[in-house]
Amino acid sequence: MEALLNRGIKQIIDEHAEVGPILEAYGIGCVPCSVGTCLLKDIVDIHGLTAVQEQELMTKIAKEVYPDRDIVIPLREDTAPAQGGELTYSPPIKKLVDEHAWIKRLLAQIPAVIEKLDLSSESDRRLVRDMLDFIRNYADRFHHAKEEDILFKYFDENLDILQVMFTDHESGRAHVRAIAEAVETQDRAVVCEHLTAYRELLTEHIKKEDEILYPWMDKELSDSQIGQMFSAFADVDVAFGDGPAKHIAFIETLEAASS
Ligand SMILES: [Fe+2]
Ligand SMILES: [Fe+2]
Repeated sequence: MEALLNRGIKQIIDEHAEVGPILEAYGIGCVPCSVGTCLLKDIVDIHGLTAVQEQELMTKIAKEVYPDRDIVIPLREDTAPAQGGELTYSPPIKKLVDEHAWIKRLLAQIPAVIEKLDLSSESDRRLVRDMLDFIRNYADRFHHAKEEDILFKYFDENLDILQVMFTDHESGRAHVRAIAEAVETQDRAVVCEHLTAYRELLTEHIKKEDEILYPWMDKELSDSQIGQMFSAFADVDVAFGDGPAKHIAFIETLEAASS
């Protein structure tokens, strides 16, 4: 069993396709993961399953991988909170979750913007530029900078789950560059394609952070690290001055215009 835990999950799924749906049933989406070099033991640890869920999951995987063996998975001592319960966060992590709420409100507006988008009109081009301004300055510089420059620094940045997060941030930046160029050439199809792709990417990314990464990080960080991080986040808030408040006001205006 130890050997199975130390194998890469992608390799296990490649050899035993049924393992993908088994993991998905526990909310673990390894099949579409862009990095996919995590070990099975990391996946079990990071996803915060209860002892009973972990025992069930590992029994199902062991049956797929070793159909001829009768493997009994012991029940470990339960330390993880039950999945599906209310997620709670430390104060600095809660700040990041609250910032996600504003980013999600922008994402929610994208379909309505796309539907009416007429890039021959200066006001619609300005609207897209304003959305990009929010994404670049609020979602990326303000929020992703707290993650990349502060939170992630407490962990080994080579961890697969962090590599997935960095890759997502970079993919988001690539979508923003594509939209910015296409707005100026009034290429509606490209703007819509990348706005939609950005929405899908960030929706999944935020879900991974809120439900998997942040709870796991909170569990790993000591009280003094959490205190340090809270004050480092407060410094970022001060450095950005009234910028974030202006971006939040933009979301409220956008919502009011579409309602
Ligand atoms: Fe992120
Ligand atoms: Fe985030």
